[in-house]
Amino acid sequence: MSVFAEQSVDVEHYLSQRAIAAQPSEVRKILRASPRPDTISFANGAPYLGALPFDRLADDAHRILEHHGSKAFQYGPSEGIPELRRHICELMALEGITADPAAVVVTTGSQQAIDVAARVLVNPGDVIFAEGPSYAGGMAAFAGYEAEIVHVPVDADGMVVAELERLLAQVRAVGKTPKGVYTIPNFQNPGGVNLSAERRTRIGELCRAEGMLVFEDNPYGLLGFDGTTTRAIQPDFADITIYFGSFSKMIAPGPRVGWMLPPSWLHEHMVNTSETGALNPAVFNQQLISAYLDDPSWKTKLDEYRGIYCRKFEALVQTLEEVMPEGTTWNQPTGGFYLWVTVPDGIDTEKLAYEGIDRGVVFVPGTAFYTNGAGHNEMRLSFCLPTEDDIQRGARIIGELFREAA
Ligand SMILES: Cc1ncc(COP(=O)(O)O)c(C=O)c1O
Repeated sequence: MSVFAEQSVDVEHYLSQRAIAAQPSEVRKILRASPRPDTISFANGAPYLGALPFDRLADDAHRILEHHGSKAFQYGPSEGIPELRRHICELMALEGITADPAAVVVTTGSQQAIDVAARVLVNPGDVIFAEGPSYAGGMAAFAGYEAEIVHVPVDADGMVVAELERLLAQVRAVGKTPKGVYTIPNFQNPGGVNLSAERRTRIGELCRAEGMLVFEDNPYGLLGFDGTTTRAIQPDFADITIYFGSFSKMIAPGPRVGWMLPPSWLHEHMVNTSETGALNPAVFNQQLISAYLDDPSWKTKLDEYRGIYCRKFEALVQTLEEVMPEGTTWNQPTGGFYLWVTVPDGIDTEKLAYEGIDRGVVFVPGTAFYTNGAGHNEMRLSFCLPTEDDIQRGARIIGELFREAA
C-alpha cells in the first residue's frame, strides 16, 4: 500500500488546473491491464530489438567509457553533442532536409521535443489541428499546455486538406486562435497512411498564409517496407515547420534520444525551454547512438528491419483475412508499425479490448487516438513487436473474439 493511501488529501486543492485536466493515456491503461506474461501484444508501438547488434553496441559502450568516460558521465551541451547532430543532419538529408548541425536540438526522445515545442508555442485555448486519429502522446503534449485538439479527417492520402480548410474557418468564426497543424506524414501512428506530396505542399501553403505552424512528427520515415523515403514538409516550409525526429523506432527507444529542427527564429527559445526540463539530453546515450551511426552497417541493419516488419505485417494481414468477421476493413500501410482496423458498426473495440486481455491478446481501441470520443468501431494493431508465430496466434484469438461479437 502506498504511504499516502491513508492520508485524506484534498488533491485538487494542490494540483494545477493543467494536472487536473490531464488524462492518463489509454494505451498505458490497456498495457497495465494486461498482466499475463504470455499476453500477445498488438498494443505497443515498441520496435522489435531481436536483430540489434548488441555485441557491437557493448563494444562501443566499453570503448566510450574507457576512452571518454569523464565526458560521457558529465553534463553536456543543452542542444546535444556535435557529433550526433552531424549524424542527424545526414539522416534528415535522406528526406530532402538541408540543415546545419547547429540548428538541431537533441532531446530526451522526440516526446520531449513535442512537449518543449508545445510549451514554447501554445497558449491556453489555442487550436492544434491533428489527423483523426492521431498519436495519443503527441496530442497529450499539446493538451498538457491547454491546447484544444481539432481532428481533421484522413483518407488514403492522409489529412484531407479541404476538411482542414473548413474546420479552420469554423475555428476562426468562433474567435479561437489556430496555432498549427500536427501531422505524422509517414506511416502515420495509428492510421498507417502517408500524406501525399501534393497535400504536404497545400498544408504548408495554408499554414503560411494563415499564420500557423507545421508540427511535422516523423519517427517512422525511414521504415518504409521497400526503403522508399518521401520529401519532408520542412525543406519547403523551413520558416514555419518544427520537425521532430527520433532514434526510438529505427534503432531503439531505451537510450531516449530524439531531436527537433525548429525554424532559426525559434531555436533559442526551444533550447532554453528544453534546458529547463532536462538540462541536457544524456551524453552517454548520444555517444552510443553516434558510435552506432559511425559504422555504415547501420544501413544494412535498417534494411534487415524493414524486411522483418514487412513480413510481420504480411503475417498479420493474411491471418486477419481468414478470421475477421465480414465487413471488417483495414488500411494498407507500406511501412511503419501499425494496421488500422475498422470493424462493423455496433461492435465496440473498447469493450472487446478488455475481453481480449482475458483471452491473452492486447490491442488498443480506436477511442485512444481521438480526443472527441470517436473510434468505437476502430482499433490499432501494432505488428512491430510480436514474433510472426505470435502474430498469427494472436490474430486468430482476435478473430474469434470479433466473430462472436458480430
Ligand atoms: C508519432 C510518434 N511521435 C513521437 C513518438 C515518441 O517517440 P520517442 O519519444 O520514443 O522518440 C512516438 C512514439 O510512439 C510516435 O509514435
